Amino acid sequence: MATPRLGETAPDFTAETTEGSISFHDWKADSWAVLFSHPADFTPVCTTELGRVAALDDEWTKRNVKVLAVSVDPIDAHNEWKGDIEEVSGSSVDYPLIADDSRQVSELYDMIHPGEGDTSSVRSVFVIDPANKVRLSLTYPKSVGRNFDEILRAVDALQLTDRGPFSTPADWREGQRVIVAPTVSTADAKERFGEDAVEEIKPYLRYTTAPA
Ligand code: BEZ
Repeated sequence: MATPRLGETAPDFTAETTEGSISFHDWKADSWAVLFSHPADFTPVCTTELGRVAALDDEWTKRNVKVLAVSVDPIDAHNEWKGDIEEVSGSSVDYPLIADDSRQVSELYDMIHPGEGDTSSVRSVFVIDPANKVRLSLTYPKSVGRNFDEILRAVDALQLTDRGPFSTPADWREGQRVIVAPTVSTADAKERFGEDAVEEIKPYLRYTTAPA
């Protein structure tokens, strides 16, 4: 299958998980979701990644994000490995781990890249919005653990830019100024956000205060 692209509907599926059988769209309902794959259970980088996702539980909840992990390992392996993740991270793994031994989900989301060594999934991430649209995707090789603070930051940026004609600059973090989208003229931006609330650096680069 082709990788689901930005703006497309995230493919639906029903799968066995550590939290029981899940139909993805029903389970997710009108939340955001982060669906992320890892290569294999009982491996070091994956153990740190899934522990970090567990430790960020409050951060996902604050943003109305449901997380779910996927690999091609069977349910018994997931259930056993979950204990290791909890021991190592000190956090409870309350999100579902999909047992994708049939490779249904990995293939739907194009998570298996033969150039990356074997037939297990690489480190893919899909951020999916309340309307089930894919809003962000990234793919890391097996050897490089992901930065989940960056994924939270990107969710913050997506949720903020959905609220107005804004974009976020490089390295933007919550609380910092945002960019006025190119579709809005500086005059219109000043009328809308306030004369003193818009700074024009270049005619195409205007900053304003992020909405509260
Ligand atoms: C790891 O999680 O450490 C890992 C898994 C598969 C390939 C390489 C590294």
